Amino acid sequence: MNTSQKSHIGIIGLSVMGRSLALNMADHGFKVSGYNRSASVTEQVMEDHPHKNLFPFYSLEEFVNSLERPRKVMLMIQAGAPVDAVIDQLVPLLEQGDIVMDGGNSFFEDTRRRSNALAEAGIHYLGVGISGGEEGARFGPSIMPGGEESAYQAVRPILEAIAAKAMGEPCCAYIGPDGAGHYVKMVHNGIEYADMQLIAEAYLLLKYVGNFSNFELADIFREWNQGELKSYLIGITAGIFREADDLDGGQLIDRILDSARQKGTGRWASIESLKQGVDISMITSACGARILSNHLDERKMASAQIEGPGILQADDRAAFAETVRRALYAGKIIAYAQGFSLMQDASERYGWNLDLGTIASIFRAGCIIQAVFLGDITKAYEADSNAGNLMFNPFFGNRINEYQDSLRCAVSTGVLNGLPVPALSQAASYLDAFRSPASGANLIQAQRDCFGAHTYERNDRPGSFHHEWRITDDN
Ligand code: 6PG
Repeated sequence: MNTSQKSHIGIIGLSVMGRSLALNMADHGFKVSGYNRSASVTEQVMEDHPHKNLFPFYSLEEFVNSLERPRKVMLMIQAGAPVDAVIDQLVPLLEQGDIVMDGGNSFFEDTRRRSNALAEAGIHYLGVGISGGEEGARFGPSIMPGGEESAYQAVRPILEAIAAKAMGEPCCAYIGPDGAGHYVKMVHNGIEYADMQLIAEAYLLLKYVGNFSNFELADIFREWNQGELKSYLIGITAGIFREADDLDGGQLIDRILDSARQKGTGRWASIESLKQGVDISMITSACGARILSNHLDERKMASAQIEGPGILQADDRAAFAETVRRALYAGKIIAYAQGFSLMQDASERYGWNLDLGTIASIFRAGCIIQAVFLGDITKAYEADSNAGNLMFNPFFGNRINEYQDSLRCAVSTGVLNGLPVPALSQAASYLDAFRSPASGANLIQAQRDCFGAHTYERNDRPGSFHHEWRITDDN
């Protein structure tokens, strides 16, 4: 390769996501150098997907030398120690001003640490959240770049070109400094967990209380996907219920083990929320539901030993389906209100100056949580960028007022019939904890002051008070 043919960008890691992103860039006219630790993966990619703009390299030195300056390198490798290992090998080959991007699901604190370390060597580091799975990476993901803005401007034309487009606008925008891009991706994934859990609970209610068959469920979800719930996840759910089982006949959904794993981004969001003091109980409950689902042996023992109520089926199935739809929508509003509150808090805590409206707008297409709903969130923040909790926005507040009866009905139906509905229950609890003038915290203050002299605050005058509690075994 002579100088005039140098590549615009290089990708390290050519597994599914890296390969798809490389081909997406190549399709958009960028010359892309590809490198993978195992040469056989690179060879396979070139055999399966030969492309005039994609150039394979089998040594890191040659890969680095193939790139135009300042070099732009995207890491598409497993988050954690492998990222540090590749950075250690790569950095000695780079020069001041070069740009390294991490396009994996890295923990944002790791990204902050790496960007500080690379800054000392004069190398720019961008933590780039990328959502959309294989299809998104190949044909248009949602992209959340964080790091130095000047470095982002250098890679912006490439990232914007390959991003999904919503109403003609690229679903890619500068998020903020250091770990902001990966933080926002983490919250995206947390919301994804809550969305998926809500859909799973709607499925349980419709299947067992509504007595809907898989094909009826497919029709219901397809219909929901025509209206305000229209989203990627509702769309694929409709398709999933129709999918035939190649191995054993019938529908595949009935042959899939009732146990769901997680790689950790939703859990990270929950842990951060506790550290920050923001309630994202729906995301946490979605993590908990997956964790409990993994305890298959214990669940089997429990279902043999602990009785549940019998299931009472809905009389009016169509009306019940509408109740579930409204409950799902109300739950979705509350899950997003929680996720966006977490980002709002992080923005202030880390000084990132996150633009929540822009973030909502780049979730409108390309990513897993893409939905019509995100357009409404974008409008809410456009109307008032400091709107606070999403439920204060008139559009979402009105929907909550309209649909909360359905949410309460879906939760109580689940509880009375012994069907687990943790995310819907958390939605109702959060709504009431947020809305109700009485939360019971006055009693908790009293208890703390009583057993530990932690003092208490009053509702009739300012200040901290301690009371000598006259409590004996007799009273
Ligand atoms: C995305 C997805 C993607 C991946 C999740 C799945 O935005 O494209 O979120 O990042 O599918 O990591 O996470 P779990 O394995 O934890 O469900």
